[in-house]
Amino acid sequence: MAAAEKPPVSGTGSVALDGALTWVDQRFPLISTWKAHLAEYYAPKNFNFWYFFGGLAMLVLGIQIVTGIFLTMNYKPDSNLAFASVEYIMREVPGGWIIRYMHSTGASAFFICVYLHMFRALLYGSHRKPRELIWIFGVLIYLVLMGEAFFGYLLPWGQMSYWGAQVIINLFSAIPFIGPDLSLWIRGDYVIADATLNRFFALHVIAMPLVLLGLVMAHLLALHEVGSNNPDGIEISKHKDANGIPLDGIPFHPYYTVKDILGVVVFLIVFAIIVFFAPEMGGYFLEANNFIPANPLQTPPHIAPVWYFTPYYSILRGVPPLFNSQFPGVVAMGVSVMILFTLPWLDRSPVKSIRYRGPYFKGALTAFVVVFLILGYLGTEPITVWGQFGAWLGNADRATVVARICTVIYFLFFVLMPWYTSIDKNKPEPDRVTCK
Ligand code: HEM
Repeated sequence: MAAAEKPPVSGTGSVALDGALTWVDQRFPLISTWKAHLAEYYAPKNFNFWYFFGGLAMLVLGIQIVTGIFLTMNYKPDSNLAFASVEYIMREVPGGWIIRYMHSTGASAFFICVYLHMFRALLYGSHRKPRELIWIFGVLIYLVLMGEAFFGYLLPWGQMSYWGAQVIINLFSAIPFIGPDLSLWIRGDYVIADATLNRFFALHVIAMPLVLLGLVMAHLLALHEVGSNNPDGIEISKHKDANGIPLDGIPFHPYYTVKDILGVVVFLIVFAIIVFFAPEMGGYFLEANNFIPANPLQTPPHIAPVWYFTPYYSILRGVPPLFNSQFPGVVAMGVSVMILFTLPWLDRSPVKSIRYRGPYFKGALTAFVVVFLILGYLGTEPITVWGQFGAWLGNADRATVVARICTVIYFLFFVLMPWYTSIDKNKPEPDRVTCK
């Protein structure tokens, strides 16, 4: 619509505000964007608890960006100064400690929200047609988020920052032919050094956040193009009234904006409790070893990544080396993440939601979650955590054997999916959404 043809905005209750909004709207798609994405975006009326986490992930993204900007004002990306600058932020900068703890807690909160958000997609089949692209953008977000967390973890230049990065970058050396050159290229030096810190800083504060913001935008545009799924896994667009409005849809604003406030308040209470009373979270959010400055001459006795990477770390450790090369483990770890992209095409079930799925999918999803948690736990511990089997099993570490079994189940969940979802004994789906 040409600018002059756009009707004046009215109804805010203030003549001045109406006038200002009219002026803007005639030059910028303000009201149409507001309507398309909020006031006239019809979302299914049966959203439940699981639908809080997309919005919460956006909130955490905002927290990370704002606290990150303030941290950057006092942080020094120099291998001689980085550790001390973080201590300076914690002890000398007014409010620095809370900014830093919000950022470190935010990193874990981000992954908690994203894992629950992804699990919701599996529960209700939100990754299935026509939402494959939403899912693909989601998996890309997840990959970028992992990169963002990995680059950020080097910045405090503590022992775990240093040695964690060392372990992960060395994995690239296991790639045949190009590996050693590739890891040298990533580090920018023969060891993790100032050059590595500088580039990780650049990637962490600008490159990755920009990509993340772009992907989140694409994720939401794709969502609003096809409409939201819901806990029944059926399309509300099938039943519309005479005006083309879905009978089971309600405007996102005000209904879900108000509902989301509840999620935000509960989230912020839990977040504040952690920031104020348990920012290290027993070593899961901030590891004790990272309060020791990086020392290239002293390897810590036990190197483990932060909890959100540990399921994949267990897969890496669990896969036996071949000809003394860790390459098979590296491949298994890479494939274990990349396989997520194929999920929309592996699932052949005629129904989407767990509510109407049969026992095979329910069993497979339960097994998947359980093995993911076991792998996650094992990745935080040394492989000797559960001792060894007797000589009859070659004195194998119990944890390694369990990690291998869990890795096989992890992959079977995906590989067998086309089979067990097509023969499952599903229940009939309702015609209209149910409000349980
Ligand atoms: C920065 C991280 C992310 C943000 C901010 C984000 C944001 C959102 C928001 C606001 C929604 C709509 C509300 C909701 O359904 O909860 C949504 C939907 C969705 N997201 Fe994400 N998301 C993120 C990461 C991911 C990831 C990692 C995946 C999967 C790999 C994913 C998959 C989906 C799917 C399938 C939907 C559609 C849900 C439905 O209609 O039932 N998202 N996302």
